[in-house]
Formats: sequence, structure tokens, C-alpha cells
Amino acid sequence: MTTTASTWSPASWRSHNVAQSPVWPDLEALAAVEVLLAAQPPLVFAGEARTLTTQLGKVARGEAFLLQAGDCAESFHAGSADAIRDKLKVILQMAVALTYASGVPVLKVGRIAGQFAKPRSSATETRDNVTLEAFRGHIVNDEAFTADARRPDPTRMITAYHQSAATLNLLRAFTKGGFADMSRVHAWNQEFVASSSEGQRYSAIADDIERALAFMRACGIDLSREDSLHTVDFYTSHEALILPYEQAFTRSDSLTNTWFDCSAHMLWIGDRTRQRDGAHIEFLRGVGNPLGLKVGPSMMADELLEIIEVLNPANTPGRLTLISRMGRDGIEKHLPPLVKAVRDAGHQVVWACDPMHGNTFGTDSGRKTRRFDDILAEVRSFFEIHRALGTWPGGLHIELTGDNVTECLGGGLGLAEGDLELNYTSMCDPRLNASQSLDLAFRVAEFLQS
Ligand code: PEP
Ligand code: CO
Repeated sequence: MTTTASTWSPASWRSHNVAQSPVWPDLEALAAVEVLLAAQPPLVFAGEARTLTTQLGKVARGEAFLLQAGDCAESFHAGSADAIRDKLKVILQMAVALTYASGVPVLKVGRIAGQFAKPRSSATETRDNVTLEAFRGHIVNDEAFTADARRPDPTRMITAYHQSAATLNLLRAFTKGGFADMSRVHAWNQEFVASSSEGQRYSAIADDIERALAFMRACGIDLSREDSLHTVDFYTSHEALILPYEQAFTRSDSLTNTWFDCSAHMLWIGDRTRQRDGAHIEFLRGVGNPLGLKVGPSMMADELLEIIEVLNPANTPGRLTLISRMGRDGIEKHLPPLVKAVRDAGHQVVWACDPMHGNTFGTDSGRKTRRFDDILAEVRSFFEIHRALGTWPGGLHIELTGDNVTECLGGGLGLAEGDLELNYTSMCDPRLNASQSLDLAFRVAEFLQS
């Protein structure tokens, strides 16, 4: 089937196959929620999404680095101000570590304020001979293993919208209202991080930054006029999985008369929903936001080139970020042919590395985890591959939290399998804790420098 831009509408995805869709038990209730959401104010503005495309264009040209990070799945029960602040803190710390060591500006995009939907490898889950629908994220159902909890409930989309709005409101206040001021660089170092070796390394950088600011002030430079020292540009993103929700926030931009999905600045297409003729690609090709595309080991070069043509026919730098997630053992084999093909076809894309999703495994005690060393090894290979091919290793896409969780193995504190039970709170995939995240940022900064 050939699709052309002229046949696109916010609803045109409905005539395509929708992979990973929940089976909504009550279609009338779903339709009522869609009407209600379509009448709500947008979460972001088209102009902000356009600015992010411009910023990502710099990444595509090798002039900046993208840090995209946050929860695997946000929870309706973990949206407190402290949790949001701590996630922001660790992302700001990582950005400081990356920028300070490498001199490369870092563009900050959260998996936050809307990251509520999960694709699943199986549509059902069986425990003790009982089979129920899989947990698909709080925007769809609840993780408790009961028939009631697992039934897809469209009114959850309304809760997701309100939590996203509240989260974004706080993020805007934190990033524009003084919290992200460079003079507070020390305050982003949480107590439990400060005692670790990466926390101490961070403190040393924070001291340097304070000295540099004091020096500039002493030279008579009026730092109060330097906006970039006092505020941070922070963008939101999530996987655009639940298309009725995404369509409800798709609005026509009055300035350009084009469509934007105003549920987040950037939307990405998951590795399980990237079928060339599927509903997710159909929907996202028509919105003006910057897009991400997860690229896993089963992606073939010709398929990727076709999808790029569909998603970015004008070859706009910054429009498309390819997020490779091959696993430490798969990256050497699977990534180089794709990077070569994209480079040789002249496509201007951002290449980012998600070293999380190809490195997940189950422990004997039934926990999903990832090894810090596997994560680091995949990022190292990602840099080496791009350096060898003359392309820019443009970004890092990771799952993290600001809390002191014990979900991934290794890192500075050397978490072992027996430690996983200490504080494992993720509803979905294992996340790096704040010190592991900072540790990773310092290592990646070294790759960026060399
Ligand atoms: C994710 O980013 O949480 C995810 C499910 O990734 P992928 O689509 O790459 O498996
Ligand atoms: Co995940």
C-alpha cells in the first residue's frame, strides 16, 4: 500500500493495523474519553516542538549531544514533587558531567510527563494457571494481577493527561524559576549520591563551575543578563503508543497550518510498532513534532530507508532520531550496516544509543535486570562504530530514576543480584539509579572527548 502526504489526517491511522493495541472492552466509553480529551488544552505548543527540531538539527550536524532519559513507565502512584525534582536533578547532573568534560552542548529531553504506555512481548500473562491481560502501563490498566485491575479502562487516559499536565507544570517551574540556575549546581547532588566516587567527582566539577562564575563576576561580567546560566530548556517525550490519546491532542498549528501532537514535544515509535504500513507510522508521519524511531536487531537496511522516507521526506535535520537498541552482543553485527546505509543515502538523522532495552535479562529469583557493564559496553561500541564510519554518535537514551533504587547490577557501588530486593520499585524495566546514571555520564563524556 502506498501512502501519500495528501491522504493523511489525524484519524487516517484507523484504517491501518494497530500493533500493541489494548482490547478496549467498551468502545463507547473510549469514544467519550476521546471527545473529552480533544476539548482539553494542549500540554505543549507547536512552537516549542519546532524549536526542539531546530536544536536536534544541531545534534544531527554533530554540534550537540542529546540526552533523553527518564522512567521506563511513569506511575500514577509516583508523581510527587520530590520524585519529579529528583529525576530532573540527575538529568541536570548528567548534562553537567557530559558538557563539562566534553565541551559539547547537551540537549535535555525527559521520558516524562506522558510516558505511561508500555508495549508488551505477550498480550497475556499467566500465573499459577490463571491467564489475564498483560499490564500495558497506567494509561491502560493496573499492574495488580486481578481481572478487574487488568481490564483496559479508557478513563485512565484522563488521569494520564492530568498527571502529565501537573508534571510538566512543575518541570517548567523548576527549569525556568531558579532551581536550574548554574549557581545551584551543588544542590543537584543528592546526599546519597554525594558520598559515592561519582558524586565526589561531580562535586569537584561543581566547585570548578562556581569558581568560574565567581571569576567572571569579579571581571565585571553581569551574569544576571546571561539567560542560559539561569534557566534550562527541558523537553518532554514519550512513546506514542496509544493512538486514540495521541489523536485527541493533535491540533492544527495556527501559525503554520500544520498538525502537531501536543501531548509532548517529541514522540517516539517503539521497536514493536514500527511496521512500515502500520498505524503508528501512519499517524506520526503526519505530525510536525520531532520523532524518534527505535531500531532493534531485526531492522533491515532497506526497511529502515523506506521508513525514513516516510517519516522525513523533506530530509529535515532534527526531524528524526534513530534510537538504536541492539544489545551489547548484537550491536557490532547489526548497527554498522544500518548506519552505512543511512549515511550513503544522505539522510540527515540523529543517531542515539539506547543501551538498556537490548541488555535486559531475568534473574533466577524472577527479577528483570541489566548489568551496568553491558550498558557501558554497548555505548562504547556505539561510539566506536560511528567514529569508524565518520558519523556522529549523537545521543544517549536511558531509563533512570532519581531514587536510590537497586534495579540494575554493578556501577560504582557494585550492586549484586542479592541487592536487587533492597529497593526494586520499577513497574516495568530496571532503571539506573542516580549514582549509576552519573557514573555512566562520566564514562560517556570520556567517549565524547576521544
Ligand atoms: C522503551 O523504550 O521503554 C521500550 C519499550 O523500548 P523498545 O520499543 O525499544 O523495546
Ligand atoms: Co523500558
